[in-house]
Amino acid sequence: MTGDANVLLEEISGIGVHPAGGYARPAFSAAERQLREWFVTHATRRGLDVETDRNGILWAWWDAEGTTGRSGAVATGSHLDSVPGGGNFDGPLGVASALAAVDVLRARGVTPRRPLAVAVFPEEEGSRFGVACLGSRLITGAVAPERVRALRDTDGRSYAEVSTEAGFDPESIGPDPQRLATLSAFIELHVEQGRGLADLDRPVALGGAIIAHGRWHVRIEGRADHAGATLMEDRQDPVVVASETVRALRARVLESPDARGTVGRFEVTPGGTNVIASSVDVWLDVRHRGEDIVRAIVADVTAATEAAAQAEGCTVSVTEHSFSPTVEFDRALRDTMAEVLPEAPVLDTGAGHDAGVLATHVPTGMLFVRNHTGASHTPEETAEADDIDAGVEALASVLEHLLLQPDASQP
Ligand code: GLV
Ligand code: MN
Ligand code: MN
Repeated sequence: MTGDANVLLEEISGIGVHPAGGYARPAFSAAERQLREWFVTHATRRGLDVETDRNGILWAWWDAEGTTGRSGAVATGSHLDSVPGGGNFDGPLGVASALAAVDVLRARGVTPRRPLAVAVFPEEEGSRFGVACLGSRLITGAVAPERVRALRDTDGRSYAEVSTEAGFDPESIGPDPQRLATLSAFIELHVEQGRGLADLDRPVALGGAIIAHGRWHVRIEGRADHAGATLMEDRQDPVVVASETVRALRARVLESPDARGTVGRFEVTPGGTNVIASSVDVWLDVRHRGEDIVRAIVADVTAATEAAAQAEGCTVSVTEHSFSPTVEFDRALRDTMAEVLPEAPVLDTGAGHDAGVLATHVPTGMLFVRNHTGASHTPEETAEADDIDAGVEALASVLEHLLLQPDASQP
């Protein structure tokens, strides 16, 4: 049915199902590739001209009649990859809503004065290679291509290897200022990852800001030995140190109101019940509106880990995997969106998005759709059918407004 994002989402509900619940759709996996093909099929069916850029971002173009080139384009879209155990909507809702919004615009008889692009960004979650928003970081130059080529997944396979196998050329990745220069605006619609709209009893919100967030890898090395034969005073046990990292993070974050700190990944090597570990890898995710506060928390947790490591005879290294400063979405664009959607409240978010990374180069805005549980990165994430429809209508209205603005660079 025209304009129905619910139907589109239903079509992909069986792709990449995680055995433990929710979805596992990591970048370049069979599931993610199937989702990309699904997108291409639907975009092509709508007469959009689909291309894959050199960073693996899909762009589906609706060219404006009588214009030359693609300057002044308005873009929308989101991502199709998921975290392990992710929900139905984080990413795919924005992609399905963008396709549905094209249908709504056509049904409304809109004749765009600017090109419209529907974009799909790869590896937004950073679940496979550790760096979030990898596609948007590459196109904006926020991450060096040589670093990306060398990133490894949990099986130890490099981005270069995996992307080559999937049919991409890892040598071509990198900043693409020319493509970014063609965009006059990017609007990402996303399921809300909190209860803001549920509490306000509204279906759709405008994005205000994304709070600063980053990821750090803490590697603690000790000495493997026998769990029974090694005296307690002879141990150099990295698990004991890592437990201090987790405890220090929780304690330190609680000292900074509104900060968030998470250890969601913890790997013990070699991982035997009767083996004192040789090393532990811990990943920190720390967020707060104040960038300095995020950095201070990580510095304090690093210091606490180092002190524990010294007491245990272990060593520690801490590597920053990514850092995203606080992003205030473009004020003029938000004011325009507010004129189109006067009822929509403005909400900030603690979640990262490609829109936040693109904001350094393109005026960006976001729309959030109500999530009654407020949960995300879990199958508990929700978006009701009527709210999804309201999101599509809202997106279509914002796009309509932007697409009807004359483009000064066109004759
Ligand atoms: C992405 O969803 C993130 O905020 O980690
Ligand atoms: Mn997302
Ligand atoms: Mn997410």
